[in-house]
Amino acid sequence: MNNLIGAAQLTRDVIEQLCTLADDIRANPSNYSKILDGKIIATIFYEPSTRTRLSFESAILRLGARLISTENANESSSGKKGESVEDTIRIVQGYADAIVIRHSDEESSRNAAKVATVPIINAGSGKDEHPTQALLDIYTLRNCKGHLDNLSVALLGDLKYGRTTHSLIKVLSQYDNISIYALSDDRLALPEEYIKIMQDNNMKYVKCNSFEDIPVDLDAIYQTRQQKERFENSDVEFKSYDLTPEVMNRFSDNTIIMHPLPRVGEISTELDNDKRAVFFEQAKNGLYARMALLCEVFGK
Ligand code: NCD
Repeated sequence: MNNLIGAAQLTRDVIEQLCTLADDIRANPSNYSKILDGKIIATIFYEPSTRTRLSFESAILRLGARLISTENANESSSGKKGESVEDTIRIVQGYADAIVIRHSDEESSRNAAKVATVPIINAGSGKDEHPTQALLDIYTLRNCKGHLDNLSVALLGDLKYGRTTHSLIKVLSQYDNISIYALSDDRLALPEEYIKIMQDNNMKYVKCNSFEDIPVDLDAIYQTRQQKERFENSDVEFKSYDLTPEVMNRFSDNTIIMHPLPRVGEISTELDNDKRAVFFEQAKNGLYARMALLCEVFGK
């Protein structure tokens, strides 16, 4: 694996290998602290990020590589002057041994990979995909549940523009006996292509109208933020299915609460101490999952 552009590249075997490696990195960090010594990795982020960028940068540094970075590439890179992503990649690959890119254009990572001579890692491409988030999400599910077949997961919030749910569906589609319950405002429902992926892969897909339509013994609730920055009209209000202690009372002790974060009200802070709330642990898992991915990309 010498790049990561879409979640379809995360096959069952790759996931098992990366999750096993992530576990070992977590248990024995000092064994990995110089493994990318001598490498320089660039992070180019055209969209805002806290977790993805900083966990990648922490991963880079914890593996002994060095880092060059543009945090606000829309404003502070030559993108502002109108340079294409392809030209930026052609230049940056002269300075770095791998490039981590986030961009609002859905084709950005694919276009980058077409011209790149160094590994490209997609850290979020518009509303389309977020494969490294899918990796840490699946790592979290595996560690919390102990298995990846036979899972039932509710997807909540913005399923239209929420790229993390799109990549998660692609990854889960490879496992057996997966049930997906989708609960969102109709105008933020899952795009048809993801429903087709579920059908083609024999996943159970249930479009829900309320929390009552979701089984109480569910394995995980995956909440998401409404991606207002991607709305055509940011003044339109959409129905939100917020998680509160009352809502969570319905669900079993084993129903974990996940969220790619940031949350902006869709999970009550009153749930932070609920033992089912794993979203902060999930964000921490991003560090180990991304360290494992970087090792893999460099053949270590
Ligand atoms: C997500 C993203 O950027 O797609 N955040 C993340 O990477 N952890 C979700 C979001 O921004 O709402």
